[in-house]
Amino acid sequence: MNISVIGSGYVGLVIGACLAKLGNTITLVDTDKDRVAAINNNVAYLYEVELDEILKQVHIEARTDYRGVTDSDIILICVDTPSDETGSISLKSIIEAAEQLAEEMEGKENYYVVVVKSTVTPGTTEEVVIPILEKSGGKIGVDFGVCMSPEFLSEGKAVQDFMHPARVIFGEYDKKSGDTLSNLYHNFNAPILRTNLRTAEMIKLASNAFLSTKISFINEIGNLCKQLGIDTYEVAKGMGFDERIGSKFLNAGIGFGGSCLPKDLKALITSSEQIGYKPRILQEVLDFNDKQALRLIELLKRHIALKGANIGLLGLSFKPGTNDMRDSSAIKIAQALFQEGAIVKAYDPLAAENFKRLFPQIEYTSKEDILNCDAILIITEWEEFNNLDYKGKIVIDGRRILKAKEARIYEGICW
Ligand code: UDX
Repeated sequence: MNISVIGSGYVGLVIGACLAKLGNTITLVDTDKDRVAAINNNVAYLYEVELDEILKQVHIEARTDYRGVTDSDIILICVDTPSDETGSISLKSIIEAAEQLAEEMEGKENYYVVVVKSTVTPGTTEEVVIPILEKSGGKIGVDFGVCMSPEFLSEGKAVQDFMHPARVIFGEYDKKSGDTLSNLYHNFNAPILRTNLRTAEMIKLASNAFLSTKISFINEIGNLCKQLGIDTYEVAKGMGFDERIGSKFLNAGIGFGGSCLPKDLKALITSSEQIGYKPRILQEVLDFNDKQALRLIELLKRHIALKGANIGLLGLSFKPGTNDMRDSSAIKIAQALFQEGAIVKAYDPLAAENFKRLFPQIEYTSKEDILNCDAILIITEWEEFNNLDYKGKIVIDGRRILKAKEARIYEGICW
């Protein structure tokens, strides 16, 4: 099929590359000239497993203007929807994209479907996107269709997640819109749920809120287990055999970060409050997560005075396999260490450059050098941290690196 993808951020670029690999003709539109140039040179400007290889194999036309996008069968809106200062989702990029699209839609006669893939709160597609698209003079359901189809890509395995989704969700304005989008997925072996627009929007937010809840839940159990001298990971293993609970997302530690879980949880909370509903469980999941990482500092203070001490951070990214440090617990931890007057050194195999922009005062060094610090905090569970020699060291572990247990003083955050 002929597909246009608006926004070549994380989601847009991965989807565009994967759909091109599956034989579709892809045009990517992005306002960022550097990104566009990189994509036209078949280079991934961001790190994601397999992405670079795919971009070398396919042809994608990337451009900064919207000319011709309505010649496509399907137009996927994949622009960023970050948190604003109130915790709501900022609709700036999606409004701009819809407005530019509406201009391009004027006078077009071929039928196409506009699909919102960006994460938005329930009602956004109907109340914000569709009215803008209708400014084109085209009639929804006749001249063009609309769907909302959220993505559930996980960083570090986004390509695999796209190619082999656990489920595909089509929120559809009408049957014709959904039927057109179905054609794109006819070769996918995944359950497809066809529903209305706002239900699709909620499925995405509720899924991420559930994952966040699962993590805060096991962290709470973990904090309790630590006090009782029980191994949280054994508890999680025992729980996970029950299919109703499931074994995934039960790794206790310093909490969840990244570009999605914290943002989407905040968005669901603020949008609930805007309609007069106070979501107590969701609020507690968020508040709990904000504090969990700082437990690492409390544990550290039991063993060492922080003022003037050299503290080494192993890992900075919000999880292994990515250079993304958005909302990483490492940020809160570094801030707290500086407040306590510590000298901070850090190592991360991928995220150091990104972290340096936020914390230029940290000394970024090798993992071996981190071992020479007065104490070591493990922030990200990079596999390579299992090969270090921790003997004689003080280690406070936020991620359960088993090898670190050989340290002279070892404390796990929840075990
Ligand atoms: C998440 C969702 O998984 C994905 O479906 C959605 O589309 C985007 O948000 P991602 O942000 O890439 O994906 O990371 P994920 O693997 O979900 O991890 C999020 C955070 O939770 C990380 O900081 C991770 O360390 C933490 N986590 C995850 C735990 O602390 N314990 C776990 O058991 C699992």
